[in-house]
Amino acid sequence: MAALLNYWTLLILAGMACTCTAQQAQFENHLEHLTGVRHPAALQNKPLVDARDYIKNQFRQYGLDLHVSYFNTTIMVNKEEKQVRGENIVGVAKGPQSGGVLLVGADYGTSLVRSPLEDNGAGVAVMLEVARSFMEQMGPKGAFTQIKTVVFAAFDMNTREYEGNHPGRPGSYYFLHQWLWPFINQSVDNFSGAVILDSITKFNRNINSQFLPADFAVAFPEANERIAADNKKGDFLALVTRGNEANLNLNQALSLNYNKNRKSQLMRLQELIMKDGVTLGNAKEMFDHQAHIHFWTFLPSEENRPLPAILLTDTDVYRRSSEECHIPCSAQDFLTNTRKEILGHTSQAVAHTLADLQAERKPSENGSSMTAVPSLLMSTLLLAVCLLLY
Ligand SMILES: *[C@@H]1O[C@H](CO)[C@@H](O)[C@H](O)[C@H]1NC(C)=O
Ligand SMILES: *[C@@H]1O[C@H](CO)[C@@H](O)[C@H](O)[C@H]1NC(C)=O
Ligand SMILES: *[C@@H]1O[C@H](CO)[C@@H](O)[C@H](O)[C@H]1NC(C)=O
Ligand SMILES: *[C@@H]1O[C@H](CO)[C@@H](O)[C@H](O)[C@H]1NC(C)=O
Repeated sequence: MAALLNYWTLLILAGMACTCTAQQAQFENHLEHLTGVRHPAALQNKPLVDARDYIKNQFRQYGLDLHVSYFNTTIMVNKEEKQVRGENIVGVAKGPQSGGVLLVGADYGTSLVRSPLEDNGAGVAVMLEVARSFMEQMGPKGAFTQIKTVVFAAFDMNTREYEGNHPGRPGSYYFLHQWLWPFINQSVDNFSGAVILDSITKFNRNINSQFLPADFAVAFPEANERIAADNKKGDFLALVTRGNEANLNLNQALSLNYNKNRKSQLMRLQELIMKDGVTLGNAKEMFDHQAHIHFWTFLPSEENRPLPAILLTDTDVYRRSSEECHIPCSAQDFLTNTRKEILGHTSQAVAHTLADLQAERKPSENGSSMTAVPSLLMSTLLLAVCLLLY
């Protein structure tokens, strides 16, 4: 009996290990193409070109409709203004129903000095992995039928995260104005929201590893208490949301899916809700340079048209990582066990959120009740055998 039980336990464990290793291989693959500096003024152009090709190829492979949206922006190179061309890369999974578009986005460009994997190769890897598993779930072998449209977007050139002052606007800004607004027929009502992934793998269980600006306590009193009670450990993933209905709906769907799994305890989710009218003071600087901000402040003409968007972030420069990977850092060195878990768990939570909001579970086919019979028979038989042996 014990031997048999062990056999099944082994089989089940092997199955679980298989899914895990398969997913880890995906992450390693994505990250291998994102180790280099991807900036228009970098010494080498190749990492940027290769990353673009890789993202486009992945989108195509998953069966998404690929769009490339070019834009011009201005950056400072050797104290001179230079016009550069950027590429926002978009993959569309169109659903049969109009309206209700949901987006998952991440910056793929980098600054000249920060870690290309931390900021923001890991965010791009999760976006790609979510796209892959979403398309798999919606496919003929998947458990879901897609209803509403999902857009996956990789943004180029976040000029707000470049060192020094740059006059040009970032890629995500152009994406909204040039690509998204026409795509949603210039109607806020056709858009359900964006999930932005920006720096998500810095993790630190040491006391005082989380730095908070002075006004954080005023801006986010509850979160501040929680983090203080935890001795200011950098052990959480922040979910930054605006305090209105459209944003809170998306926030709730994601946090439910994130907290469902016991792995959420590894890096707990800390909600940071920006209530209208609350002065953020210097806490504003924590969250004013990531892509979500262009959704909140969207101004297509004279009238402000805020779009729902939530940001997942480890707070970036406000936290020291406990697993520094010195540059040049390889994908293998970067993928510590902790990071593997964080990436896997985050992409699962986002993918489940998309399935919940944009799809319907397929009705179990008539055939499936038939296939259940042999397995039921089988288990009964096995149980009988076990009892006999025992
Ligand atoms: C960018 O600039 C080039 C020439 O400087 C121009 O041909 C092109 O149309 C511009 N692209 C966009 C999207 O504005
Ligand atoms: C925009 O309008 C077109 C044509 O009416 C429609 O097919 C499409 O679904 C609309 N887009 C969205 C996002 O609702
Ligand atoms: C999408 O936008 C168009 C244009 O404004 C509008 O006519 C349509 O009703 C919208 N669809 C949904 C589902 O909101
Ligand atoms: C499943 O069963 C229902 C009713 O018993 C039947 O109408 C339907 O055609 C069946 N579907 C398939 C795929 O066999």
